Amino acid sequence: MNPYLTGFRCSLCGAHYSPDEVTYTCPQDDGNLDAVYDYERMKRTLDPRAIAGRGDRSIWHYAELLPAQPDPSIAGPRTPLTSLGWSPLYRAPALERTLGVRAVWLKDDSRLPSSSFKDRASAMVIARAMHIGVKTICVASTGNAAAALAALCAGSDLQAIIFVPEDTPEGKLAGILIHGARVYTVRGSYNDAVALANAACQTFGWYNRSTGFNPYTREGKKTAGFEIAEQLARADGAADGAASAQPFRAPDVVIVPVGDGNIISGVHKGFAELRALGWIKRMPRFIGVTAALSPSLYRAWQSGVETFETIPSRTIASGIGTDRPCDGVMALRAVRGTGGQFIEATDEEMLDGVREMATRAGVFVEPACAAAYVGLLKGRSMGVIGSDEEVVLQLTGSGFKDVRSALRAAGKPISVESLADIRP
Ligand SMILES: Cc1ncc(COP(=O)(O)O)c(C=O)c1O
Ligand SMILES: [Zn+2]
Repeated sequence: MNPYLTGFRCSLCGAHYSPDEVTYTCPQDDGNLDAVYDYERMKRTLDPRAIAGRGDRSIWHYAELLPAQPDPSIAGPRTPLTSLGWSPLYRAPALERTLGVRAVWLKDDSRLPSSSFKDRASAMVIARAMHIGVKTICVASTGNAAAALAALCAGSDLQAIIFVPEDTPEGKLAGILIHGARVYTVRGSYNDAVALANAACQTFGWYNRSTGFNPYTREGKKTAGFEIAEQLARADGAADGAASAQPFRAPDVVIVPVGDGNIISGVHKGFAELRALGWIKRMPRFIGVTAALSPSLYRAWQSGVETFETIPSRTIASGIGTDRPCDGVMALRAVRGTGGQFIEATDEEMLDGVREMATRAGVFVEPACAAAYVGLLKGRSMGVIGSDEEVVLQLTGSGFKDVRSALRAAGKPISVESLADIRP
């Protein structure tokens, strides 16, 4: 257990619990819990230069800022779990030119072991499961969180049990089944899968990894914020031909696709902790991009409230389709608290985004992930992103997991038989 971790605070009533007092949500009101650390003590004892200078480039190089670490004595495929993280952060010059923005960076989490951002969260939950001696981990998922859990449990004595909606894209389903997880396809929506997984965990005593329920997921996800800040500082250093004066630096804007809201609240928390420690000078503004056909969170944003209606999602962007966001309160606070914005993306805009990201930036993403690009496009035309700003797009999932959507966006190949069929 991390000695700096003081416990968990409820996002609704503010009650504070010691680290082992609670497992999932607030016992009083079911509010999402947020891990709290002793930042003053960290400030006095931790050296940001020493942390950023570590040779280990996995998420575990931020060990002092994380609630758990993998247990080396537990059997399993060490490499995927202990080496994941430090996905590339690279510029997209063609997007900078066409959109007239000073700097556009892509934080490419489609390159993580199971090809999505969710590896960060599943790894952290597995580390916690090892610590408390749990052997069976269950998750309700739109596909990526499940694939991450299945992949990271493979070859170990941990068993992954998965609940996904029955319309989960085939690529995601294959990426779960192939690792030997037990998979239940739920005849219903993602939120129905969440409810069934919760009931099964209660009945059978399985450890529940579900997003917005298990507080360790956000702790894994915040590592993306740490990495972006460290990679930007390194890029400054490389540009100056010397080590950067600061080991961490924030951009002006971070754009994140949003379904349940746990990714945006996690990336935000990464920056918020660096700010609390005085390791960055200011917070970036957060732009969250939701699917227009999954409107529950966006309506709460527009109404200025922190409560959510249940509205059936109909978007093709499976990763961000939710009837009711499971971590909506913290997502709203990430955006409102940084002077940011929520933007909606239609299915057509996301499909166009899949094609445009592939043709202009060379990265093949799934529709939910392309929402971040739609946010950049619309944010720019709405005037919420200025021409002199530095923007980071958080990429969350590979296009290879939803090939059917990609083919809708990509157009058709040319069928040929001989040279006579080919135009010069
Ligand atoms: C590819 C992709 N992008 C974005 C998200 C949204 O994350 P969250 O539900 O935490 O908002 C997901 C969640 O499944 C996803 O799979
Ligand atoms: Zn509470």
